[in-house]
Amino acid sequence: MTFFPAAEHARVMSESLHLAVRTVHVLGMAVLLGGAGLVWLAARQRIASITALARTYEWLFWGAFGVLVATGIGNLGALGAPGPATRWGQVVLVKLSLVALFVVASAVRTLAVARIGDTAPVAVATWHERAYGATALSLLGLVALAEVLAHG
Ligand code: HEM
Repeated sequence: MTFFPAAEHARVMSESLHLAVRTVHVLGMAVLLGGAGLVWLAARQRIASITALARTYEWLFWGAFGVLVATGIGNLGALGAPGPATRWGQVVLVKLSLVALFVVASAVRTLAVARIGDTAPVAVATWHERAYGATALSLLGLVALAEVLAHG
């Protein structure tokens, strides 16, 4: 049995906690992106229950988004406040500004999905195709930007 000194133990614990937080951050991103991609595909297939599927995704979306914000703040806490003068700090700022825009656009999308009728299936499917295609593309852009941030 190996005994670590207390400081070493604390370092290992905090690194594993940070790894767990990062894992949950990435899983949250996977739910958002994978879900948007699925709804987009379903809309392209013109499935009859597209509005119901989209509404289910909206619940998942906001749940996973809350998890991303919480774990994102955890990431920032674990890495220390990024200096806005550093390249990393600047990329974080760009990412957070884009996340803010994305939240506003997503709120508009969620409200629209909540109000949309099931009456004109073709127009509704086209709307879903565009809305979730745009959501998936924006998320891909955010992921690409986030990957630039990633510390090993
Ligand atoms: C308020 C919201 C958010 C905050 C504060 C935040 C913060 C962070 C930080 C600080 C990192 C860097 C970790 C590192 O350098 O090792 C990071 C990584 C990452 N973020 Fe976010 N993030 C947020 C939202 C999002 C969203 C919406 C997405 C999904 C598109 C996302 C996807 C990722 C990915 C894929 C990584 C790279 C994986 C990693 O390094 O662990 N984040 N985030």
